[in-house]
Amino acid sequence: KNHIADVERFVSDNMEEIEQFRIKYLGKKGILNEFFAAFKDVPNETKKEYGQVINQLKTKAQEKVTLLKEAWENAQEENGIYGDLSRPGEPVTLGSRHPISIVKNRIIEVFSNIGFNVSEGPEIEDDWHNFSALNLPEYHPARDMQDTFFIQKNPEDILLRTHTSSVQVRYMDEHKPPIRTISPGRVFRNEAISARSHCIFHQVEGLYIDKNVSFADLKQTLLYFTKEMFGKSKIRLRPSYFPFTEPSAEIDIYWGLETETDYRITKGTGWLEIGGCGMVDPNVLKNCNIDPEEYSGFAFGMGIERIAMLLYQIGDIRMFYENDVRFLEQFKSIV
Ligand code: PHE
Repeated sequence: KNHIADVERFVSDNMEEIEQFRIKYLGKKGILNEFFAAFKDVPNETKKEYGQVINQLKTKAQEKVTLLKEAWENAQEENGIYGDLSRPGEPVTLGSRHPISIVKNRIIEVFSNIGFNVSEGPEIEDDWHNFSALNLPEYHPARDMQDTFFIQKNPEDILLRTHTSSVQVRYMDEHKPPIRTISPGRVFRNEAISARSHCIFHQVEGLYIDKNVSFADLKQTLLYFTKEMFGKSKIRLRPSYFPFTEPSAEIDIYWGLETETDYRITKGTGWLEIGGCGMVDPNVLKNCNIDPEEYSGFAFGMGIERIAMLLYQIGDIRMFYENDVRFLEQFKSIV
């Protein structure tokens, strides 16, 4: 018990003294081992108390040694002398870009190389910019093509944009041709969520307006894009309908069926629709105060998730929004 009092009283900021204290109590030939060795000779009726006391002494001695050593090390660090230089450094975990951002940045890079700039607009839109200006007057049946989330119905429709074509309307309001711009952004559609589609996704739309722009320019631009983006440029333009373009086409890329994921994403055909395109309808140009007699142009819109799924072999679109770090960590690019 006297020893316990001694241990409690002991203080030192000198490493050698601390070490001597440790050896004295906890060393091989130290006091504690002596006590433990003597245990068998202790009379039975005091064995219990004796055991408790030496265990207490042991714990106190160990705690004291740890405490003093730590204090000593901290003091060293404060003085700029590090106790143990081989200790591992503080871990710094590096975040990574989201795959959608990586692909979006790459798309911007590819188009900027041929003179397109980037334009942005609001996610909450009015009816004019999302529909009417794009040649979709009220009660036009084609409005049902895009299942819209409405925020307000009266006195005018306010909604979550269903495509970034709305940005193009805003851009034409403010800029005169020649126009070469792409508008990447988040869009919203009231659709059932599945492995292939989501109610929130990302689009990049392109707009090119100048004198004498033809469908051949559109096709060449898309061929250039797919070659740069995927390293292959086998595409198919399927005749289609959009109110804001005429003629219109759906853009399919031939990806092939090399992996099981290719098979799943392309539904076993090797082809995947990545967007729509066409020659800007004269009515849209008129709505934006551009003379269709003087100017013509093309527009296209593509889904960024679709492109990312092909490039990164992601079989389920929902993974982009779950924010599971085990998924996100796999994309190490920070550019
Ligand atoms: N805005 C259309 C969509 O979201 C895509 C598109 C853009 C089609 C431009 C033609 C021209 O589906």
